Amino acid sequence: MITQAPRGVQDWFGEAMHKRRIVEETARSLANAYHMQEIITPMFEHTVLFQRGVGETTDVVQKEMYTFTDKGNRSITLKPEGTAGTIRAYLEHNMYAEPAPKKLFYVTQAFRYEKPQSGRLRQHHQFGVEIVGSESPLVEAELMSFITELLKRLGLKGAKLHINSIGCAACRKQYNEALLAFLNDKKDSLCPLCRERMLKNPLRVLDCKNPECREIVKASPRTVDYLDEACRNHFESLQKILTSLGIAYEVDTDIVRGLDYYTRTVFEFVNQDGFALCGGGRYDNLVKEIDEKQDIPAAGFGMGIERILSFMEAEQIAFPPEDPVALYVGVLGEDAIATAYGIVRRLRAKGIVCETDYMGRSVKAQMKYANKIGAKKTVIIGSEELEKNEAVLKDMESGESIRVRLDEIENAIGGAGNV
Ligand code: HAM
Repeated sequence: MITQAPRGVQDWFGEAMHKRRIVEETARSLANAYHMQEIITPMFEHTVLFQRGVGETTDVVQKEMYTFTDKGNRSITLKPEGTAGTIRAYLEHNMYAEPAPKKLFYVTQAFRYEKPQSGRLRQHHQFGVEIVGSESPLVEAELMSFITELLKRLGLKGAKLHINSIGCAACRKQYNEALLAFLNDKKDSLCPLCRERMLKNPLRVLDCKNPECREIVKASPRTVDYLDEACRNHFESLQKILTSLGIAYEVDTDIVRGLDYYTRTVFEFVNQDGFALCGGGRYDNLVKEIDEKQDIPAAGFGMGIERILSFMEAEQIAFPPEDPVALYVGVLGEDAIATAYGIVRRLRAKGIVCETDYMGRSVKAQMKYANKIGAKKTVIIGSEELEKNEAVLKDMESGESIRVRLDEIENAIGGAGNV
C-alpha cells in the first residue's frame, strides 16, 4: 500500500515527463510572444476565496475541494483551479496600478476530488491565461487565437472551438426566471442537489453530471435568447473578430461552464466526443467579488495538460526525442577517474550531454552501458591516454574511430563518424 500512490493521481517521469515538458515549453514560448507574464501562486488558499470566487453552488465547491483545517485553525483548500488565486494575487499586489491589461499565464497543479474516470484526475495540471483590465471582445479573441496557435504548434487538429454567451447579471435575472419556470414542473425528477440549486443558482442545474438531470435540461431555455443589447453586441463583435481572423468556431448554446464567475462569453475547445481540452470565458465580476473596492473586467482560460497529452496520443502526434547522450567517457583504472570526470564536467558546462562511469564497471560493461543509454560516441580514458594526452573517439553507430587530443574532444564530437 505504501508503494502505491492514492487514486486519481499520477507520477511524472521518463517519456511522459519529456512530453509534458515539451507541451509546457511550447505554451510558455508562445505566451512570451503574446506578451504574457508567468505567475505562480501558492498551492493552497483560504477556502473562502474559492467559495466566493468559484461559487458555493458549483460541483467544484460542493463536492470536489480538498479542504482541511490547519494547525492555526484556518480553513485551507488546495487550489481546484487557477483563476481565483491569480486574481487574489493580482489584487494583493496592486497589479491594477500597472498599465492595463495585465496578461498573466500559469502552469499549475489543481486538485479536485472527482470520480477518477478517464480524463478526470484528482490532481491535474493546467496551463492557464488570465487577461485582466479590458472589456473588449478582442481579449476573448486573443485567448482563442492563442489556443488555436498553440494547438497548431503541437500538431493537434481535432479540437473545435465552441462559444456561447451567458450574459451579465442583468440578463441572468431574466434568464433565471425563464429557466425556473421551465424547471418547476420537472422538479421532482431532478436530483436533490439540483432542487436546492434551483433556489440558489438555477444556472448550475445545467451542468449537473447526473444523467437524469442532463436529460431534463436538454430542452431548457438558452441564455443567448435572453441577452441585453450590450451583451448581444459584445457576442456579435467577438464573432466578427473571429471571422476576420479566420478562426473557425461554432455557437454552442449548451455551454454554460461549471464555475460561477463567468459573464458574457464562455468557450471550450472540444474533440469529436465533446470532451473539453480547455475551457474559459469572460468573468467581469470576479475581481469585485474578491475585493469589493475594485471593479475590473477580465477573461481567461485553463487547459488540461493531461488532456492535451491524451488528445495528442489519440492523434498519434510524434514528439521530438530527448537530447541523446553525445559522448560516453569511459574510465580504465583509478588514475584516470579525475581526468575523465574533468572532461565530462568541461563538456557539460558547454551544454553537451555526456555520461561516465559511477559503478566501477569493467571497460566491456561500460561499453554495454553506453550502448544501452544510446550514447552517440565513446572514449575510454586509461593510463596510456593520460600519458599521450590522446584517446580513441568511437562512433557507436558506424563503429569508426579516430584519435583525438583530450583537450579537443568537444571539437571532434561532431565529426568522428565521418572520418
Ligand atoms: P475548467 O473547465 O474547470 O476551468 O478546467 C480547465 C481545463 O482543465 C478543462 O478543460 C480540462 O482540460 C482540465 N481539467 C479540469 N478538471 C480536470 C480533471 N479533474 N482532470 C483532468 N483535467 C481536468 C477552469 O479551471 C477555469 N479556471 C478556466 C478559466 C481560466 N476560466 C477563466 N480563466
